[in-house]
Amino acid sequence: MDHPFDAIVVGAGGAGLWAALELAREGVNTAVLTKLYPTRSHTGTAQGGVCAALGNLEEDHWEWHMFDTVKGGDYLVDQDAAEILAREAIETVIELEHMGLPFNRTPDGKIDQRRFGGHTSNYGEGPVRRACFAADRTGHMILQTLYQQCIKHGVKFFDEFQVVDLLFEGDPAKGGRAAGVVAHRLADGQLHTFRAKAVLLSTGGFGRMFRITSNAHSLTGDGVALCYRHGIPIQDMEFFQFHPTGIVGIGILLSEAARGEGGTLLNDKGERFMANYAPKLMELAPRDMVSRAMYQEIRAGRGIGGKDYLYLDVRHLGRKVIEEKLPDITDFARIYQGVEPLKEPVPVQPTAHYAMGGIPTNVFSEVVRDDKGTVVPGLFAAGECACVSVHGANRLGTNSLVDLLVFGRRAGRQMARYAAKVERPQPIANAVEPMRADLDAIRGREASGESVAVIRKELQDVMMDNVGVYRDATLLTAALAKVKELKARNQKVAIADRGSVFNTELLEAQELGYLLDLAHVTVAAALARTESRGAHSREDYPERDDKKWLKHSLAYQGKDGPTLRYKDVSITTFQPKPRTY
Ligand code: FUM
Repeated sequence: MDHPFDAIVVGAGGAGLWAALELAREGVNTAVLTKLYPTRSHTGTAQGGVCAALGNLEEDHWEWHMFDTVKGGDYLVDQDAAEILAREAIETVIELEHMGLPFNRTPDGKIDQRRFGGHTSNYGEGPVRRACFAADRTGHMILQTLYQQCIKHGVKFFDEFQVVDLLFEGDPAKGGRAAGVVAHRLADGQLHTFRAKAVLLSTGGFGRMFRITSNAHSLTGDGVALCYRHGIPIQDMEFFQFHPTGIVGIGILLSEAARGEGGTLLNDKGERFMANYAPKLMELAPRDMVSRAMYQEIRAGRGIGGKDYLYLDVRHLGRKVIEEKLPDITDFARIYQGVEPLKEPVPVQPTAHYAMGGIPTNVFSEVVRDDKGTVVPGLFAAGECACVSVHGANRLGTNSLVDLLVFGRRAGRQMARYAAKVERPQPIANAVEPMRADLDAIRGREASGESVAVIRKELQDVMMDNVGVYRDATLLTAALAKVKELKARNQKVAIADRGSVFNTELLEAQELGYLLDLAHVTVAAALARTESRGAHSREDYPERDDKKWLKHSLAYQGKDGPTLRYKDVSITTFQPKPRTY
């Protein structure tokens, strides 16, 4: 079945919904496709807050927010994009407030704000209170608010439609334009084409390549991998953030807001060990530093009971703060760990959380395909799947929500301008055939002894153990060999479900292919980058090397794996300096 629209949004998280809202407000005929239901998108799990330099509790300025973002990203941030992020954070948060988002309030009725790691600090009280929040459900509230607005403005939703291919008129690597997508309807396995002038990818991250992750099962990098397979490069894939406080063993997030409100991290001896690593900011140092410190403590045998976790302690915050500001995460500790945070410290360990890299875009959320910024006409990306790049080598807490709001909104506006100028693409002959053949090949394969679950588990293990917080050439070389082996074995993977109705096994096989491709790029780019910068910490190259490596990586799909090229970082205001806190 063919569905003609003017704009298509793939993914119904915050970036996709805000883009769709802008398009609908401009009267552009828009469809949102999601493999889930919109209100189950991963934005809904974002907890602690969204930063904007409102200065509601103390002096603050968007310039400070911009600087913190650049420094937090270890100077790999494109500063023109960081300026837009910090400036427009303010108006997007205020717009959300006007849409009805129920932020926590100060006693005089302003949006309440709290501390997050790595933001401007006078070192007396800790970072400036900049994160606007709705308890520890900020992402949930953003998602609900934007979804309600989309419904109000007549956006059309196609739920449980999993996009499995991108359509182009011409070769996107040589000037071809986006023409739509192919989507698999879960309910009956039919392939549908959605044709449009403008296509936005807002498909989120790919944390599921790691064993311990805060990411939902759906976060398999679909949009990023599909671009890569169509000859569009992917950027800065070697930088993956580990959030310090995940629930032990399962990785579900316990928000940094717990530390922002005064929670502490303790080792087996009951020491606030961050005093030895970041004596000024302590637990509110940036995430890359805190996660490294936790690994150091564990390696030194000071994990709890000598094991691979530490304690997050919020007991001293008291019932009122916990109930008003941290209700969900304290419930998570009760439900998943059987721990009462009012009385006991909570076991935590770093969890794979956020991809700094992704589909390269310019500040209008247009996808670019080379180091000169050449645009792929009609193709847009925003949110975690995109790399604009405002996070550089290490994202600051709360800047993911800012990124998806600011650049989702920009995407919608630019798509509306673009759609007004061009004709809708014509139907593409045999558009679904390549994908139908791929899916039928998986479905028709005889049992081979290779299963999705086993290959995925081996992938997650090697990525966690060899490509995690600390890396070196030996670990990465072994990981590269393992990923290649898994890719070869994946050619033989067989599934048990041969049917068409809700064949999630088939789609998981498809998703595993994406994860393998993205893991391959991640490892290759990490092996090539012989320095330590932000979240990419090479024990064999412990220093940052601006002379050689102050540049973004671009990975293109080659015959036997990724080919790496590099492009300059945009430095407009802040020259790189040593990064101390
Ligand atoms: O800790 C948190 O609440 C997560 C925030 C973020 O990743 O920005």
